[in-house]
Parts: sequence; structure tokens; C-alpha cells
Amino acid sequence: MTRWWHDEAIYQIYPRSFQDSDGDGVGDLEGIRRRLPHIAELGVGAIWLSPIFLSPMRDYGYDIADYRAIDPLFGDMEDFDRLLEETHAQGLKLLLDFVPNHTSDEHEWFKESAKSRENPRRDWYIWKDPAPDGGPPNNWQSNFGGSAWEWDEATGQYYYHAFLKSQPDLNWRNPAVRSAMLDHLRFWLDKGVDGFRVDVIWHLIKDAQFRDNPPNPDWHPGRPDIDRYLQTHSADQPEVHGVIAEMRAVIDAYPGRLLIGEIYLPIERLVTYYGEAGEGVHLPFNFQLLSAAWEPQHLAALIDEYEEAVPGHGWPNWVLSNHDQPRIAARVGEAQAKVAAMLLLTLRGTPTLYYGDEIGIGQVEIPADRIHDPWAKQEPDTSFNRDKARTPMQWSEAEHAGFSTQEPWLPLTDDRAGRNVAALARDNSSILCLYRALLGLRRQEEALRTGSYRLLCADESVLAYERCTAESRIGVVLNMTDRPAEIVLPDRFGGAEVLFGILPGADRPSGDGRLSVRPGDGIILRGKAGEGS
Ligand code: NOJ
Ligand code: MG
Repeated sequence: MTRWWHDEAIYQIYPRSFQDSDGDGVGDLEGIRRRLPHIAELGVGAIWLSPIFLSPMRDYGYDIADYRAIDPLFGDMEDFDRLLEETHAQGLKLLLDFVPNHTSDEHEWFKESAKSRENPRRDWYIWKDPAPDGGPPNNWQSNFGGSAWEWDEATGQYYYHAFLKSQPDLNWRNPAVRSAMLDHLRFWLDKGVDGFRVDVIWHLIKDAQFRDNPPNPDWHPGRPDIDRYLQTHSADQPEVHGVIAEMRAVIDAYPGRLLIGEIYLPIERLVTYYGEAGEGVHLPFNFQLLSAAWEPQHLAALIDEYEEAVPGHGWPNWVLSNHDQPRIAARVGEAQAKVAAMLLLTLRGTPTLYYGDEIGIGQVEIPADRIHDPWAKQEPDTSFNRDKARTPMQWSEAEHAGFSTQEPWLPLTDDRAGRNVAALARDNSSILCLYRALLGLRRQEEALRTGSYRLLCADESVLAYERCTAESRIGVVLNMTDRPAEIVLPDRFGGAEVLFGILPGADRPSGDGRLSVRPGDGIILRGKAGEGS
């Protein structure tokens, strides 16, 4: 069955940084609404908003105090309803961020839970007695550094938090928690949202016996605390799939809704999250490109491994950047960020774009006194400062790049005078125009959306592959270096028409398939359909 996400790309917005409408230097829902035309013109099909719910913002919204309320910083429920309506009117879908693993410590449930050992909500969170020596119950580490256990003097127990101590983990083994949380999903589905990205979904269930994690032989000082131990018992437990199946059943009761899971696991573990018969998430986020070495042979192997691993009932997906990782242009530079865009938008599967990548936001330095990211504060020497990936969108040459009338919460890029939507829209060779053109081509060419994937060649410079349906064959050739390269394509691309190139004026392949590719170029070819496959 073809679902809308087989055809469409997803666009992630970090709401604090998209568009400020009320002059507080922080983005909001009304700002997003005003910028919907940009998203529609870009050519994506869906928007995913990082959390917009009531939150003390210790982890910038990933610490939710009320799953059914909009944080006043972002607006109110009327703003949300208006945004949803206009998003749909523009022909776009709207996905929300569901954060089920933990709440804020300011959530009513946790306040109750912390009151006493007898409180009816006690078992909604994970409370444990100290180890015999009085220390934490086991060696589990917080993802943001230090022990994952926080001592509560008043009730004489520890509670577990996989992230900040102000983000206590819910106890998903408790059926009451499950049903209350699933009801939150229904609340938003009833409003008409088109689905969810689910935060750290592989964390939901922990080992029933809370056994110590084994030491990680590869850990060394300079790496974050979380890497000291393998996450053998603290995440990716078999029982999590039952919980996800329950979420999926809720989603499936509403037609056309999408469930995405945030999962950082090796490919063979990742694909188990499709579920044995498709009862898992529709899309377990595939983060392989976020950290992969920018090297054609390495990427070719990784793509093949993933293609092979995705089950027949599953649909692939690709992510290049997100709000937790260095931006693609910061990793590979501007020229290769264009090549990366072509890779993302021509691989088989749903692409997820990250706001700001379409204008090539790269390195941004965050002055010490403007650091917000709680992880960067807690582990300054070993973390990636995620603020660098969360700086405001740049719209125009206006003051503060048209993002706000005030100094934004995080700095803009130094090159904002030229690196903004208005300026780049005027330049045909810009990364913005490239994204628009590639998304347009994807819309036109069935083979780029649903065609099969096959590697053609990979050497030190070039990655080339084809996408085929019965009627059409498209070749993609990417020069991932700053050196000219030459390759030989199979006969079916001899003399092939150039459909699109990153650099203007690419040569066609010769009759025998020889093709020169300039540094940083990416070329899309129309091969002969139906032969030699
Ligand atoms: C993953 C989110 O993407 C990240 O931003 C957040 O800090 C953690 N989960 C905790 O919710
Ligand atoms: Mg604002």
C-alpha cells in the first residue's frame, strides 16, 4: 500500500528558532504559520515540530509538564489550531513530537509520585532503594553525564532519569501509565495531527531486574559518561516492542497517520523496530548519515547494508541533520552539503530535512555566556554543544535576519547578509534553489520516489547508483571530493540525458558510458528503461 510518506519529504522545525512573531527573540507558532509559504514552496510534504508543549524548558521542551497544553512561549491552543488548519490548507501534513520516556519533574504526576512511597502515582516513575552501600541502585549513566539515579531525601529512594534529573523516566511497565500516555496521543489525533515523531522510543522499557550495564571496552576519557557502559540493560529491551505495538494500534485507528521512532541503534537492531509484521513504527529514523564518514565506498556499503536490512513490509528513510547533531554543512562544508542534499533526496525512502540546511547554515560559534544546551553545560568537554545546530533560521537582509525584531536567543551566522532565504532565492546556483529543484524533481519522477535502489559504482571520489521502476531508470552520480573524477557507467547510461546537475553544463556520458564529474558536482541522468537491469 502506498502511503503519503512514500512520496513526500519531511521537514523538521525547531520551533524556538524558526520565526519569532512577538519580539521575544524566540520562535513561536504564529511565526511558523507566517512562514508556511516557504515550506510549501520548498516542496516538502510534512512538517515535524520539536516539542511545543508546556515545559520548564530545562531541556528546551523535551521536558514536558503538560502533554495537552501549548507552552506560552510558543503561543496558545488557538495558535496551534490555526497553524494546523493552515498547514493542511497548504497541502502539508503536521507531525508533533511525542516524548513518552520521561516527563518534566514539574509534571503533576511526578509531583504526586515524589510525595510519598504510598502515593498512588508512586509506581508511575522508577523508584528504587539504594544499593547496600547507600549508593545508586546500579551503574546506569545519564545521557547528559553522571549517574542516572537521583537521591530523594524525603522518601529515602532514588529515581531514575536517563536524561536530566529534571526529566524523571516514566514506568512504562505500569499499565496505567500506558493508557494515560496513549490517551494523550488520541487527544492530538482527534485534533487532526498527522502523526508523531516519538522521542527515544528504544528507551521506554528497562531491564526488569535493573542489572548493571557491562563496561564499554572502547570508552576512554574524552568520551561522554553515557559511553562508559554498553546500554545492554537500560534500553532496547524486547518488551519495548509490545508498547510500540500499542502505540501503533492507536495510530492505525486513524487513517493516514504516521508513527516515527527516534532510535540510535546499529542497523540490525534498528530494523527490528518496524515490528515483525509491520506492527512497529512506520519509520524507525535511520541516522546512519548523521555520523558516516563522507567517503563514497563507505557510504555505498552503508546504504547496501541498510537496503538489505529493511524488511519487505518496511519503508526506508534517511536523515542528514537534526537538532542534536552537527549540521551537515558544518561537517562537510558548503560544496559537499549540496552533494549531500542530492544524496538525501535521491536515496530510496522518506527524506527528513532539517530547517536551515536548505540555506546551508554551517559552523556557528556560541559564546560561552550564550550556551543554553544543558548537556553542553553538564559535560562541557565531552559533549557536542547542540546549540550549534539550533541557531535561528535566516530569512532576509533585515536586522536579525528577519527572524525577530530582537536579539535572538542564539546567535545568527556571521555570513547572514548573504545566507538567508531572500538572498539565496535570487541566486540560481544557491543551495536553496538546489533543494527546491531536487524536491521538484522528486515529485516529477516516480523512480526517485518509489523506484528500486542499486549501486552502480563507488571509488575514492564518486558514488553512483540507479533508481528504477518498470518504466523509468534514473542514475545519480555524486563527486564527493574537491577533485575532478571520471567514471564508467553501464551501457544503459551511454549517451544518457542529463536531467539535472548541481553545477551548470554537465556533459552527458559518452556512448560507452564514460562520464567526467567536476569537483562537488552531482548529476542526475535518465538511463534506458527496462534493459540490462
Ligand atoms: C532526544 C531529543 O532529540 C533530545 O533533544 C533530547 O534532549 C532527548 N531526547 C531527551 O528527551
Ligand atoms: Mg516569540
